[in-house]
Amino acid sequence: MDALRIISEDHNNLWRLATSVDQLAADMESGEPLDVGFFGSIFDYLEQFVERSHHPKEDDFLFRLLRLRSPESAAILDALQADHRAGPDRLTILRDSLAAAANGQLALTTLSQQLRTYTAGLKAHILKEEKQVLPLARTALQKEDWDEINHAFLDANDPVFGAQAQAEFRALYHRIVTLAPESVGLGGHSAGNLPATAPIEAEVLLRVQGMESCYGRIKALKGISLTVRRGETVALVGANGAGKTTFLRTLSGVQPMSAGAIHFDGEDISKLRSDKRMRRGICQSPEGRQVFGPLSIEDNLRLGAYTQPKHQVEGDMEKIFTMFPVLKEKRHLPAGTLSGGQQQMLAIGRALMGRPRMLLLDEPSMGLAPLLVQEVFEVIKTLKSQGMTILLVEQNALAALDIADRGYVLETGTVTLTGTGQELISNEQVRAAYLGM
Ligand SMILES: Nc1ncnc2c1ncn2[C@@H]1O[C@H](COP(=O)(O)OP(=O)(O)OP(=O)(O)O)[C@@H](O)[C@H]1O
Ligand SMILES: [Mg+2]
Repeated sequence: MDALRIISEDHNNLWRLATSVDQLAADMESGEPLDVGFFGSIFDYLEQFVERSHHPKEDDFLFRLLRLRSPESAAILDALQADHRAGPDRLTILRDSLAAAANGQLALTTLSQQLRTYTAGLKAHILKEEKQVLPLARTALQKEDWDEINHAFLDANDPVFGAQAQAEFRALYHRIVTLAPESVGLGGHSAGNLPATAPIEAEVLLRVQGMESCYGRIKALKGISLTVRRGETVALVGANGAGKTTFLRTLSGVQPMSAGAIHFDGEDISKLRSDKRMRRGICQSPEGRQVFGPLSIEDNLRLGAYTQPKHQVEGDMEKIFTMFPVLKEKRHLPAGTLSGGQQQMLAIGRALMGRPRMLLLDEPSMGLAPLLVQEVFEVIKTLKSQGMTILLVEQNALAALDIADRGYVLETGTVTLTGTGQELISNEQVRAAYLGM
């Protein structure tokens, strides 16, 4: 159901924005100056995207048909649509307040209060749709309803939702990311273009069969089997302690495997040492980043290339700097001086210095502010669009499954579910357990 997927993606995006606004409101309350450009860009996005596109599509198609099929939905839909109608005025008031605060005519704390009220309303609205309306729509609407709704949401020529409009929304969103202050984003990263179709039929690059691994008497992996095809992005999601990190460490050879087999590019690498696996092209960005704080950024990157011939190192480093300009600026500084998000870029950069044929990423978004999370995922998308094969471990399941071609759900050392990223996102069990919906 494409429309439902689109609506949920929109919600996810809006939720991140609302969380960023909350964070900036808190920053202002603790004395940070007002960032007029950033808030202005957020209001532009909300106005263009939510008011002109997301809401009308819901009103005209999803809600209209749901009213017909399910008369008991009228009360909640009335409330949501009243909210939709009030949206533009609320934004106008916020813009006026922003201007007044910029001129010193309104206290920053008053503005921050108004912003928080707005985001609280936005979040409540999203939750109502996710928890009440969308589940009802799934059961009450008929196939012909979905045909009509999906067609409306996917119509590439639609002036308010088509390809042109989508490109404008992306540009607006990109501006937000660019203008985001240090506390919520690095800024300045270009969004990658996803390839249109997943390489489902591509050849298998990695095949893991029955992998087991133990810590003493505790069996952390109880027979994991999975495959990754060339060019694929595969997400491994699961709760704390499910065994995700253990899986990546066993795969890269730093954690012993007690049973099972690993084939990489047709070769049995089950018994190879970790440095040999790295030479084969399995490179990992570890959990918690683990950059070497006292060493310079350049030296951290060089460490990632220790299995590589010397002559290519400087050239590869320049490529990393093109990808992460902020690292270039700070190349001679100790890595410990970087912010969390920048350290994550460095950890990914260091893994790329090993010229991976398969990149293992362990929780790249962990501990980052919402817009930085967004930015890290943009980096992953860019790598994916360049053809990199990626095995992505994340607790941020929705974001990971969203960019993944396929995913595996891990529970206490066992694979319990697998499917395409979108199948897993729509799976009720996954939504309940990992997406908090
Ligand atoms: N060094 C260790 N010694 C003993 N047990 C460990 C060790 N590391 C992990 N474990 C256990 O192995 C299991 C899997 O842990 P692992 O770190 O692989 O999970 P994870 O899915 O990566 O979790 P998280 O989301 O917290 O990173 C857990 O039960 C954990 O307690
Ligand atoms: Mg882990």
